Amino acid sequence: MKICQTIAEMRSDQGARAKTGRFGFVPTMGALHEGHLSLVRAAKKQSEVVAASIFVNPTQFGPNEDFAKYPRTFERDCELLKNEGVDFLFAPSAEEMYPKGAVTWVTVEGLSDKLCGRSRPGHFRGVTTVVSKLFHIVEPDIAFFGQKDAVQLVLIRRMVRDLNMPVEIVGCPIVREADGLAMSSRNAYLSPEERKSATVLNRTLKEIRKHFDQGERSTSKLLSAGIKIFQQEPGARLDYLEIIDPESLHAARTISKEALVAIAAYIGTTRLIDNGMLQSNLVV
Ligand code: PAF
Repeated sequence: MKICQTIAEMRSDQGARAKTGRFGFVPTMGALHEGHLSLVRAAKKQSEVVAASIFVNPTQFGPNEDFAKYPRTFERDCELLKNEGVDFLFAPSAEEMYPKGAVTWVTVEGLSDKLCGRSRPGHFRGVTTVVSKLFHIVEPDIAFFGQKDAVQLVLIRRMVRDLNMPVEIVGCPIVREADGLAMSSRNAYLSPEERKSATVLNRTLKEIRKHFDQGERSTSKLLSAGIKIFQQEPGARLDYLEIIDPESLHAARTISKEALVAIAAYIGTTRLIDNGMLQSNLVV
């Protein structure tokens, strides 16, 4: 695996990979877990050459968020990526990615202030800016993102469409622990007690699915059923629980075809997210 720390190095290798077929890309912030590795495995299946990136992107963290303490496990991450057969790792510094005085942003208007974007102002602007920069630098044919960050995925698809970026976006299923907790680098922050409480996100989604499967289509009734379960967990504080259209992200009153149920909650000081689709059956 070739590790490139500068944009010039990453670009200089593109001639070699251009001849070899489809170029797959898995952008990450490191602290890799099975969720990330499932993206790499999907990339390996669907492309001949695979690059990953590790960059803890400062612009997607708010001033009082966890940028400084975000887990950084670079050596271990490199081993994992090497073992999966990744060809290139792009691991730039913040100075390399953001030239001094950079003032240009990519914003998906009307979507970037919804859900996590409402609770974390500026977060999605940071995500779409860095992902568009990574796409310009790496120039992948196909890029892989986790469905756990469902709203992020909606925004990235929209950005790619609106800006005519020549990259196919693939969303990969959420990978869960045995008790249903969605894998996340932030799970590392949880104490043993909090780790138990954290399953409430998935339990809330499952309760909503149960009522949906029994025929309930009113979103206010589905949300009330979910909130009842959530409130039984004293260690958790709800940020949002919403049932929305999976493209427009608008709140739905009733579900005709399909809807996305998205939840964000604080377990102690750790903010976690999870989601599931309500179709004929909800996968959570
Ligand atoms: O999902 C993530 O890990 C990050 O938001 C991403 C897409 C790598 C951008 O920093």
